[in-house]
Amino acid sequence: MEIPAAFKIGAVVIDPPLLLAPMAGVSHSPLRRLVASFARPGLFFSEMLSARHLPEDVRANSLWLQRAAVERPMAYQIVAPDPVEAVIGARAMAGYGAEIIDLNLACPAPNISGRRRSGGHLLADLTRIEEILGALSAAVTCPLTVKIRLGTKPDLGFLRDLAGVLEGCGVAAVTLHPRLTTEKLKGRARWEYIGHLKTMTKLPVIGNGDVNSPADCLAMFQATGCDGVMIGRAAVQKPWLFAEIIGSEQAKGAHFLWATYQEAWRLITEFFPEHQALGRLKEFTWYFSRNLLFGHRLAARMQSLRSLAACREYMAEELFLRSCGFE
Ligand SMILES: Cc1cc2nc3c(=O)[nH]c(=O)nc-3n(C[C@H](O)[C@H](O)[C@H](O)COP(=O)(O)O)c2cc1C
Repeated sequence: MEIPAAFKIGAVVIDPPLLLAPMAGVSHSPLRRLVASFARPGLFFSEMLSARHLPEDVRANSLWLQRAAVERPMAYQIVAPDPVEAVIGARAMAGYGAEIIDLNLACPAPNISGRRRSGGHLLADLTRIEEILGALSAAVTCPLTVKIRLGTKPDLGFLRDLAGVLEGCGVAAVTLHPRLTTEKLKGRARWEYIGHLKTMTKLPVIGNGDVNSPADCLAMFQATGCDGVMIGRAAVQKPWLFAEIIGSEQAKGAHFLWATYQEAWRLITEFFPEHQALGRLKEFTWYFSRNLLFGHRLAARMQSLRSLAACREYMAEELFLRSCGFE
C-alpha cells in the first residue's frame, strides 16, 4: 500500500498528506529548509507563537515568522487564553500571509497550560474553546485548524462533544496527538482515538504521535483512516524521513550523515545570531545524534559547550567525530 492522495484544508491542498509538526525551539526555518531539501511535506508549521505578541513580532519581522519560498504552505500556530488575544494574533498572522492559522489546544507545558491558561488547559472548557474559535472565524478568512490532545482522561464522549464544537465553529481540520494533557510525551500515543475521531467528524483528521519510520506512517494511515500524518521528533532525527515515505531513496551512510549534519550547522548558524544559534544547534544535535552508533558522545559534548567557537573546535576534531560514528 502507498500513502493516500492529497487532501484539502479549506482551499489549501496538502500534497503529500504529510505534515511537519510544530515544535518550539526546533521547527524553525533552518530545520524546515533542511527537511525540504530532501522532500517537502504537504504542510509546514511554525513553532507555537504567543498570540498577544504577534503584532510586535510582525513589525520586527521576527525570525520566528520568517520563511523561505520553499516553506509553503505553512500553518502559523498561535497560543492564546481567550478570544481577545487569539484575534490579535490571528489578524497579525493573516496580514503576514499565513495560508492557515492553527490554534494550539494541546500544549501541556506549565507556563502555557498552567500560568497562561492556554494550550492544553483549554480542553477543560469547551465553552471557552467555542468563544475563541467563534471569534477567530469571524476575524480571519484563511482556514482555521486546531491541534488537540485527549484531555485529562481517554473519553469518547468528550471527544465527540469537542468534535461537534470544532465543526460548529467552522474549523477546517483537526490534528489529534492522542496523549493526555498530563502525559507530556510519556507512554504511547493511543492511535485508536485517531480512528474514533475520524468516525465522529466530517472534518479532515490529521493523526500524530510516535511515527518513526515509513512503515509507522503507513500503519497510522491504515489503522486510523486519517487524512494526513503529522511527524515531529523523527523528522528532526531524520530530516529525510518524508523523502523516504514518498519513496525517493536516500543513501544513509556515515558520509551522508556528516554532510547532513554540516548542512544543518550552516543553515542554523547563518539564520540565527550566535546566542540563539547555540541553543538550536544543541536541540538539533540531541535528536540527530541518535543516527550515530555512539551519538550519545556527540550529544553530551555538545550540551556542555558554551560558545559557537567551542563547538566549531570540536567539529574539527576528526578522531572525536569518528569515535561518535561519523566517517
Ligand atoms: C521539542 C518539542 C517541542 C514541541 N513544541 C510544540 C509546539 O510548539 N506546538 C505543538 O502543538 N506541539 C509541540 N510539540 C508536540 C509535537 O508537535 C508532537 O505533537 C509530538 O512531538 C508528538 O509527535 P511525534 O511523536 O511525531 O514527535 C513539541 C514537541 C517537542 C518534542
